[in-house]
Amino acid sequence: MKAIKPQDILFKPIKAIGRDYFLINTDVGEQNNTMTAAWGQIGLLWNKPIFTTYVRPSRYTKKLLDQSEYFVISFLPSGHPAYEYLGTISGHEERNKVEKSQLKVVPLEHGFTFEEAYLTLVCKKIYVSAVKKENFLESKIPSTNYPKDDFSLQYIGEIVLAYSNEEN
Ligand SMILES: Cc1cc2nc3c(=O)[nH]c(=O)nc-3n(C[C@H](O)[C@H](O)[C@H](O)COP(=O)(O)O)c2cc1C
Repeated sequence: MKAIKPQDILFKPIKAIGRDYFLINTDVGEQNNTMTAAWGQIGLLWNKPIFTTYVRPSRYTKKLLDQSEYFVISFLPSGHPAYEYLGTISGHEERNKVEKSQLKVVPLEHGFTFEEAYLTLVCKKIYVSAVKKENFLESKIPSTNYPKDDFSLQYIGEIVLAYSNEEN
């Protein structure tokens, strides 16, 4: 695992984020957690490299994200079996999700990633907002994606460190 500059990240963002998925890792000291996610963006905002995630209020991840200064994004290879477990079991019921996932934990200064991750982004939370029904310009989007009105929270993180396990 080697440190790389965010501007040197080489990947196909729509495929890597939305089709292959990623993990959101949270750590508040006495408790940690990780969950599978597919909604996110990578880019530049306010002159900072950023990664944005969308987390529904019911997620245990949301509870820990609200208590953390940082979150860590780990990209496992496409089709990795841990995505299913971490995307169906909640930390509300299973407090040892990280251990039970059988992934190999790599501790970091601000959280943790996994040996299996080909790319890791350490993100410092810089902006949090709620997705709001009234702000959609196409009503089909909220009705399709939020039939229970459980609108996501948007967490924008500044990418402060990036690690790659690949040639890039
Ligand atoms: C492929 C996949 C993608 C997902 N993407 C998201 C997402 O972007 N945002 C979200 O809130 N939940 C998403 N989920 C659901 C959470 O991963 C799932 O509810 C998980 O159990 C939450 O874990 P937690 O309660 O421990 O945080 C996704 C699940 C899967 C299987």
